[in-house]
Amino acid sequence: MFVVVGVTGGIAAYKTVQLVRLLVKDGHEVHVIPTDDALRFVGRPTWEAISRHPVTTSVHDDVAQVRHVALGQQADLVIVAPATANTIASMAAGLAGDLLGTTLLATTAPVVIAPAMHTEMWQHPATQANIDTLTTRGVRMVGPVSGELTGGDAGPGRMAEPEQIHEAALRELRERTGGDLRGSWLVTAGGTREPLDPVRFIGNRSSGRQGVEVARAAARRGADVTLLAANVSDAILASVAGDPRIRVVEVSTTDELERAATEHAAEADVVVMAAAVADYRLPDVADVKLRKEERGGTLTLELVETPDILAGLVASRRAGQTIVGFAAETPGDDATLVERAVAKRRRKGADLLAANEVGWGKGFDRDENHLVVIDASDAVVAEAEGSKRETADALVDAIARR
Ligand SMILES: Cc1cc2nc3c(=O)[nH]c(=O)nc-3n(C[C@H](O)[C@H](O)[C@H](O)COP(=O)(O)O)c2cc1C
Repeated sequence: MFVVVGVTGGIAAYKTVQLVRLLVKDGHEVHVIPTDDALRFVGRPTWEAISRHPVTTSVHDDVAQVRHVALGQQADLVIVAPATANTIASMAAGLAGDLLGTTLLATTAPVVIAPAMHTEMWQHPATQANIDTLTTRGVRMVGPVSGELTGGDAGPGRMAEPEQIHEAALRELRERTGGDLRGSWLVTAGGTREPLDPVRFIGNRSSGRQGVEVARAAARRGADVTLLAANVSDAILASVAGDPRIRVVEVSTTDELERAATEHAAEADVVVMAAAVADYRLPDVADVKLRKEERGGTLTLELVETPDILAGLVASRRAGQTIVGFAAETPGDDATLVERAVAKRRRKGADLLAANEVGWGKGFDRDENHLVVIDASDAVVAEAEGSKRETADALVDAIARR
């Protein structure tokens, strides 16, 4: 593949040397386009030696080759790492003041950027508005992550590590070439609700975002996905509407989810049980509304356990099928999260178990997540923190590696 790597003027440019090295090692044809400011951090000889191609910042070099647009036209993928606040603003405005700018305007290839800057610059409304503009145009972000910054301070703004950018770039390439996944996936999302009476239910705060992102990540890579959506809002389901690779089946109670999961798992190569399933339900649901006036100040409910859907699917698993469970835990620290994930995976017999930390303001109904994936040897095979799209990609990577 023909990969263009834009490098802009931040200290993190030295890490991009490693990114270029990884891409060249994969066998890609890599062309580096630095900005003038980037060359103050890492010089031209390094980029030329590591990419094995001539490097220039100017639209006036090699004019006979119409270089100002040729690299962009040939590119299968463009990565900008680090992406400074200045370059992000130029991209959002569509400026073409140097070779990187003209290349970015001339390309129809996917663009992946790895922003890097101090926290204040990253959080500035101007930068955030530019990021929104680029995201809306389909530019893919990797990071930034939280961590130590150049001035010794710490916070969000640090460039993602070269390996993480490399992974995201490969994913983008795979998706462009029709994906590397085949077969059918069953993904559950959302949270089941157990009715108390015709108007009330016991439920949980799961929005379904993580499961929907897993379905989207698998579909982008070529899988045909059945998404069992338990009480997922229309706004969240809108992100899969019209996707020819995703079929949505809506359910509400644990019984409904169990029936649908059992039916669709029979055909699935991969089952990902991301929905938060109620552990208990009422044995008998009232036909009429429970009325306060008819109770003596308290209401006592006796609940019975719901069926263990994951364990049931594992028990009836067909040959070659991969089953992935989810655990939502409130552990307080990473070691306890892993410990509980290992115990749950063993208990259920799933091939992989993805554990995420939930709590007040964590995990449920948010755009960010922290996911740890355990395999059958109790090893942590993936760990990701970031948007639910990023954590879904990391989980689908782990499943694909299996
Ligand atoms: C030591 C040093 C480090 C810098 N690091 C960053 C950075 O990480 N992110 C950023 O947006 N700007 C950073 N800057 C500022 C940019 O270099 C400056 O905005 C420049 O105009 C960017 O140009 P470019 O986007 O064309 O490369 C840094 C400047 C210096 C002197």
